[in-house]
Amino acid sequence: MNLLKAVYRLLKSKFEAWDLDRTLPPNVQMGTDVQIERDVTIYGDYPVSIGNNCVLKSGVHLNAIDGPVSIGEGCVIGHHTQVRSSGFGITIGAGTVIGADADLFASTGGLTIGPQCTFGAHVILRGEGQGIEISSNCRVGMYSTLDSMNGRIFIGETTVFYNNCMVIGSGRGVHIESNCEFHQGVYIDAQGGEISIGKFSGVSPYSILYGHGGLKIGNYVAIAGQSMLVPGNHRFDRLDIPIRKQVGTAIGITLGDDIWIGAQCAILDGVTIGDGCVIGAGSVVTDSIPEYSVAVGVPCRVKRSRKES
Ligand SMILES: CC(C)(COP(=O)(O)OP(=O)(O)OC[C@H]1O[C@@H](n2cnc3c(N)ncnc32)[C@H](O)[C@@H]1OP(=O)(O)O)[C@@H](O)C(=O)NCCC(=O)NCCS
Repeated sequence: MNLLKAVYRLLKSKFEAWDLDRTLPPNVQMGTDVQIERDVTIYGDYPVSIGNNCVLKSGVHLNAIDGPVSIGEGCVIGHHTQVRSSGFGITIGAGTVIGADADLFASTGGLTIGPQCTFGAHVILRGEGQGIEISSNCRVGMYSTLDSMNGRIFIGETTVFYNNCMVIGSGRGVHIESNCEFHQGVYIDAQGGEISIGKFSGVSPYSILYGHGGLKIGNYVAIAGQSMLVPGNHRFDRLDIPIRKQVGTAIGITLGDDIWIGAQCAILDGVTIGDGCVIGAGSVVTDSIPEYSVAVGVPCRVKRSRKES
């Protein structure tokens, strides 16, 4: 209670019209030097703990119904941000910057954000299912959405998503290692399978990565723009049922390390591409490609081995 009184005195001195009884319920703790502008709504059925030196601008909603929200020191949370938690709570590390109109929702899975991450305006993070874990020094660009749905999303350190990216962790989830880079509009959707991406890999604008039967991408893989990796097929052997209603097949796609996929490629289900391959722009890869091949075309065929040159 002493802490609450101290917080009350601090807030009152900053904002004459602050109504403590209405806006600061029990179980909310705030560190010193917190700066809160008008129109903040904070519910705290379970503790809401906010570290020192936070700046929560106008229109922020913090709403921890069944689990705690804890935000580390030095955070800056933009106006119209919503931070809600029903279950395991939200933990945000020190020095994290979250842009205006972001929407963070933890539900049962939880949302853990490491220190020194940066989130652009209008970012949506939804940590349902098994939740979202974002390691330190990551960046998520404006209008991007990370939604674990009934799965899990893990993002390794220093990984960057540019604007308008989408990551959906439905099913067995999405696991992305450190130092990866996803450019504008990249769409990653586990679709009930599992997507794993190794360290230092990069995906260029508007590429689509699906995970139906499993998608495994190694380290240092570069995927150029508007490519599509789709580890699943519709069945179409029956004529009395629409194709989209027939049960599909899903084997999985595996890409080794140090691979370059050219622009506008399609990589189809069941394909394995070995380490060190180059796949020419516009290729449709229907069969597996041995390591260190340069392969091109529709369908994609090996032109030469990189080991020969
Ligand atoms: C495959 C690629 C890397 C060139 O590799 P290369 O070993 O130097 O190949 P070459 O240019 O010597 O071409 C070898 C053969 O493949 C053909 N070829 C090359 N690229 C091709 C492609 N994308 N599709 C179809 N055929 C292609 C060439 O016409 C040539 O055919 P030929 O043997 O009948 O004369 C290049 O053509 C390519 O597709 N680069 C991708 C560029 C890209 O998408 N960049 C995105 C930004 S990262």
